[in-house]
Amino acid sequence: MKRNKPVLIFLIGFMGSGKTTVGKLMAKQLGYEFVDTDSSISQQMNRSIPEIFHELGEQGFRKLEHEWLLRLNEFTENTVIATGGGMPCHQYRLNRMLRNGKVVYLKIDVKSILKRIDQSKDNRPLLQGLSLDKKTKKVTRLLKKRRKYYEQADVVISSLEAKKIDYKALLK
Ligand code: S3P
Repeated sequence: MKRNKPVLIFLIGFMGSGKTTVGKLMAKQLGYEFVDTDSSISQQMNRSIPEIFHELGEQGFRKLEHEWLLRLNEFTENTVIATGGGMPCHQYRLNRMLRNGKVVYLKIDVKSILKRIDQSKDNRPLLQGLSLDKKTKKVTRLLKKRRKYYEQADVVISSLEAKKIDYKALLK
């Protein structure tokens, strides 16, 4: 007998919005599997994300993200997918998510992004080595550019409220 298609929930948003933490919480509440696209790509390439950026450049990394999204039919279980911050910022890739699941945008302001990135041990190649001033300008510019993609999500939640949400009720 043919199995039903699994439910996929894509969690999108800027670096530092808490996609991995909230995604794990969401998956636990819903009884779903959890996958982080950065970890999955890194595992597949046997390299860290900064190493991939260093060796293949940003374009090379985007190509890997693109190819990752072409393999969604390999999912057999209901899964929450925390995506890299730039993954949905291309209309084809975003459409792929919208057509294959529910897309949830974890919204956050520039000030909170900078604070969280500063406190995080994650190495983010796009912001590496920048002074606070340059980092602020880059985050502001990128978020402005990316917002039009993020805002096409099916559901928008505030990153600052995300730990208090009942995801069973929200996503039923
Ligand atoms: C990126 C975000 C990162 C990672 C890569 C590029 C981006 O993921 O995919 O460094 O373009 O915003 P997180 O959003 O999990 O930090």
